Amino acid sequence: MENNRGSWGSNIGFLMAAVGSAVGLGNIWGFPYKMGKSGGFTFLLVYLLLAIFVGVIIMASELALGRKTGKAPIAAYAEVSKQYKFLGWLAVLAPFFIMTFYSVLGGYCIYYIVINVMGLFNGMPDSSSFGAMITNVPVSIAVLVAFMVICYLIVAGGVSGGIEKFNKVGMPALFFMLVIIIIKAWTLPQASEGLKFMFKPGYAVEGGFISAKPDLISVLGTAGGQMFFSLSLAMGAMITYGSYLDKKENLVKNSVIIVIADTLVALMAGVAVIPAAVANGLAAGKAPADIKLNGPGLLFATLQDVFHDMGAIGGVFGLIFYCLVLIAAISSAISLMEVLTAHFCDKRIAEGKEPQRKKITLYVALAITALGLLVAADGLGSNGFAPFQVFKMEMSGDWNADWLDFMDCWSEGIMMPLGAMLMGVMIGGEIGTKTILDEIHEGAGTGFDKFYKFCVTFLVPIVMAFVFAGQLSGFFANLGSTGSYIIAFGILAIFAIFTYVIKRKKA
Ligand code: PHE
Repeated sequence: MENNRGSWGSNIGFLMAAVGSAVGLGNIWGFPYKMGKSGGFTFLLVYLLLAIFVGVIIMASELALGRKTGKAPIAAYAEVSKQYKFLGWLAVLAPFFIMTFYSVLGGYCIYYIVINVMGLFNGMPDSSSFGAMITNVPVSIAVLVAFMVICYLIVAGGVSGGIEKFNKVGMPALFFMLVIIIIKAWTLPQASEGLKFMFKPGYAVEGGFISAKPDLISVLGTAGGQMFFSLSLAMGAMITYGSYLDKKENLVKNSVIIVIADTLVALMAGVAVIPAAVANGLAAGKAPADIKLNGPGLLFATLQDVFHDMGAIGGVFGLIFYCLVLIAAISSAISLMEVLTAHFCDKRIAEGKEPQRKKITLYVALAITALGLLVAADGLGSNGFAPFQVFKMEMSGDWNADWLDFMDCWSEGIMMPLGAMLMGVMIGGEIGTKTILDEIHEGAGTGFDKFYKFCVTFLVPIVMAFVFAGQLSGFFANLGSTGSYIIAFGILAIFAIFTYVIKRKKA
């Protein structure tokens, strides 16, 4: 491409970067614990179906939209649809909010790398290190800043010179380290209990890990939300990465590869993390229900106990494990930052100016860090100024429980499902599936067309409305499930009717 936006060096380089974006904390931490919370096997089944029928479709759509326009999300949406230009805004704001807490979690990984290395010499830390870290504000801030400096350096290096380069080394390294951790986990006594929990239908309840099976609708909400987050969808990332891709590349094939790789790593993380946590908990004499497989505690408290109980050698496995989580976090964080950086660079290019990537990346990093400071200092609500305390109100669902959840609520809870749901309406109802399919045909055959048309027009909006409702009822307990359904399907109905009616009138 003869412009100053940048482009990928090769398709494999793009794939590594896209898989790097997809593989993140969502896979290594979110997937295992959500699977645990939502009844093991049922969750897995629903997740896989959603990944095939919705994940691949939105992935291909986003890559096509990016490549067709050659622009970052806001300009990309604006170019294809006046009515839906605001989706571009959602796709730029969401990554910003995600980054304000993703960077804090990334910082925690750096902290855990340090304490495991120190543990090799001074005795291994256990799960109490987690409480100690989140209530230590200066340390939480220091590791957040360290994480942001690393991300800044990579993104400032450019699309192929920074992002692609990091992922080409980082992804294979991550895979290799994950295999080591799986082997170690499976050789722990009673690791098979953890595997049964994951793969044996009904065992999560039968084995006493959770008290009741969640209903199918809430599984759908959790699995759908997880699938989108994990695949980096509806966050502008794949539109932006697609905008650097060559026309001759096959978008369908690439989408399928990204989805398979991401799901594979999530499963691999699951079969490493869950059996290790379960085996270790049982060995320590805990009842299944008391093994904490939920929340950030899984990654940083429950697993640190596993490394602690291995004795001095645990420091080596702790080091390997937190290094791989750090790589996963960085490779995703740089894609979130790139959405913002690309937006401002494109704006300057459109005004006929030099993009000044380094300077823009610095501003982006500073803005994220500024808000990240709040999340870091809040320490998951443990330091006395969680949103419900600041706003002097009752705690009502996750939205005001702590600042991490607050940021997550706007991005993952609202913007993401709304953006994906309305993307379906926009493609199926306004711009037409042909707009996207023509772009896909640049590098692929027509075999995908029928499946695509059906899924994007009907399946995606409806499934996403369920996911949206599920997210709303989790974040806003006061709405209840009926209220959440009314809002989600109400918004869908309004947009669908307007879009189709306006189109009819024009025709
Ligand atoms: N997919 C990443 C994860 O699983 C998170 C992410 C979401 C990254 C959206 C980019 C865009 O952790």
